[in-house]
Amino acid sequence: MMPYPFRASLFAALLLALASCGGGDTTAEGDELSEGGEDDGWGDDWDDEDPEVESHHGAVESLGISGPDQPWDDMNAEEREWYMIGKVLPIMKELFAEHDADRWGSGYGCETCHGDDMQAREYAMPPTASYRVPEPGSAAWTSMEGIFGETVTFMAETVTPTMGTLLGEEEYTCFHCHPRAE
Ligand code: HEC
Ligand code: HEC
Repeated sequence: MMPYPFRASLFAALLLALASCGGGDTTAEGDELSEGGEDDGWGDDWDDEDPEVESHHGAVESLGISGPDQPWDDMNAEEREWYMIGKVLPIMKELFAEHDADRWGSGYGCETCHGDDMQAREYAMPPTASYRVPEPGSAAWTSMEGIFGETVTFMAETVTPTMGTLLGEEEYTCFHCHPRAE
């Protein structure tokens, strides 16, 4: 069964759109320059220093970590897929790569979250083969922290709240993306 027959063409159209718009969807924030215009007696010749430009016009900056225009609950499957393609994937891909480029710097795609059987499972979350997260507060949770260290912090402080914000859902947890350990 092919529940989403237009996926490939939607994806191609989006890539074209991204390639041609150059991040036209910037938020108001993006317009604020932070060059530090205070008069420090050096005149305006700050261009002979390397400017500390943090922004690399990535997905987080151009798309913004914000909720959907239309509530997630009201979207049909195709609208949800568009939202994943146009916003969730580019933002998450960037955050994962920033956290650990060796592991997630390349090859990050829909299946990184949804699993290799995502189409057969119609993108149902959590994927069955994903890492099984133990109950918060349990001894197993503490041992997970010991094993995965920074990755757990990244999951708890970046991935989970970002996903919640992107979907407009407040109570977002690990268990939306990971099965529970027994
Ligand atoms: C960072 C993780 C992540 C990535 C990457 C991701 N998704 Fe998702 N996706 C989710 C989560 C989490 C949900 C479930 C949202 C919910 O209902 O709480 C979801 C839901 C969906 C749904 C709706 C499923 C349903 O039952 O209604 C579709 C369709 C979907 N994703 C497609 C995609 C596609 C296509 C891609 C790649 C372009 C993608 N996703 C990339 C995390 C991800
Ligand atoms: C939006 C989806 C999402 C949420 C929410 C989420 N994770 Fe993850 N998690 C992932 C993805 C995607 C990976 C990487 C899978 C891969 O690369 O194969 C991952 C990887 C991990 C890993 C590494 C597993 C391994 O085998 O290396 C641990 C541990 C983990 N998550 C724990 C958590 C915990 C704990 C929480 C809640 C605090 C959480 N995750 C919330 C999507 C999520």
